[in-house]
Amino acid sequence: MSTLFTETRIGNMALKNRFVRSATWENMATEDGHMTEKLYGIYEELAKGEVGLIVTGYANIVEEEKPNAGMMGMYNDSFVDEYQKLTDLVHVYDAKIIMQLAYGGTKTTHNIGERVIYAPSEVCERGTKTLGKAMTKAEIDYIVQAFAQASRRAQKSGFDGVEIHAAHTYLINQFLSPYYNRREDEYGGSLDNRMRFLLDIYAETRKLVGDDYPILVKLTASEFFEGGLTFDETRTVCQKLAAIGVDAIIISGNIHGKANTMVGEFFDGYTIQEEGYFHEYGHAISQDVNVPIITVGGLTDIDAIEEIANTTDIQFFALSRPLLSEPHLIKRWKEGDRAPVECERCSKCRTKRGNFCVVNKDRKLQLASL
Ligand SMILES: Cc1cc2nc3c(=O)[nH]c(=O)nc-3n(C[C@H](O)[C@H](O)[C@H](O)COP(=O)(O)O)c2cc1C
Repeated sequence: MSTLFTETRIGNMALKNRFVRSATWENMATEDGHMTEKLYGIYEELAKGEVGLIVTGYANIVEEEKPNAGMMGMYNDSFVDEYQKLTDLVHVYDAKIIMQLAYGGTKTTHNIGERVIYAPSEVCERGTKTLGKAMTKAEIDYIVQAFAQASRRAQKSGFDGVEIHAAHTYLINQFLSPYYNRREDEYGGSLDNRMRFLLDIYAETRKLVGDDYPILVKLTASEFFEGGLTFDETRTVCQKLAAIGVDAIIISGNIHGKANTMVGEFFDGYTIQEEGYFHEYGHAISQDVNVPIITVGGLTDIDAIEEIANTTDIQFFALSRPLLSEPHLIKRWKEGDRAPVECERCSKCRTKRGNFCVVNKDRKLQLASL
């Protein structure tokens, strides 16, 4: 029996359904990360469209470093009032909203050379070839505190929780990875050491936001390359996160540009699926831990989502590109029109003029009028 539209919880956060808008950078904030009318419009639409839990695009936690243009910021207290307006707006529709917090790192080609970019070690990012500065202990402490302070601001602004971005080759992911992390101090080497940065961030954040505030973590199931973080290691990280009180874990991958071509590949013991690329990995983790697992990636068909919900212990389903194409998708499905979304998974939604669906022509027109 489908439970997709029944009320449920993550930690103390009551949710009206099991659908999540996966963190999606919109490229529509001002130069310094402040809100714009377009952004308010996009979030209001998602809330009207019956998304149970909305995760914001990644927000930078320190002013001097961001991996992309047009990102939302959360690096000082000047943001609190405008985000209060945002969270109030979303809450009117009985949706919940959490802020994703990130330090980018070397997975970027944005304004390279204009700033110092931190990394665990001096190892070029495989895609961008960007090289970062190996962090000192003082720099690690600075970033740990920046995450915690940004979370405190999120709580003050009325967000229902925060999501720590530890996936997709961003800085925390790089600390976890034996390929990117070649450190010889207490933050490198063994998996216990490689996960210390993430655990420090969690611990400092928890201290500031209290025991009941939802903290979610987004992880890459596997780095899907020889010498990278393996799925077995990710499983161990998840067990640790569950033990220390993380409220939910999002299991992603880092292959979104090429995921379509990797469907059917067997990697680290499981297969990348056509519908819900990483759900076999998420299901395996859900057998190990008793915190909710959210799967993300390649979910476009409600029949397939229902099948995953009925045959695995995955509890939540996050969508990004489909909601760029059709922000009212969840409402439409709920009302009984179960046609799949018009999303070709082409990933052409990242444009210099903002991130939107370039395939769904109706959507383009709607956005222009926001
Ligand atoms: C335009 C765009 C922006 C994205 N921004 C973020 C982000 O800010 N943080 C993040 O964790 N993932 C981001 N992602 C990845 C998505 O959250 C998601 O993991 C991925 O697109 C796979 O889900 P989908 O098949 O439903 O699109 C972004 C994806 C797209 C297409």
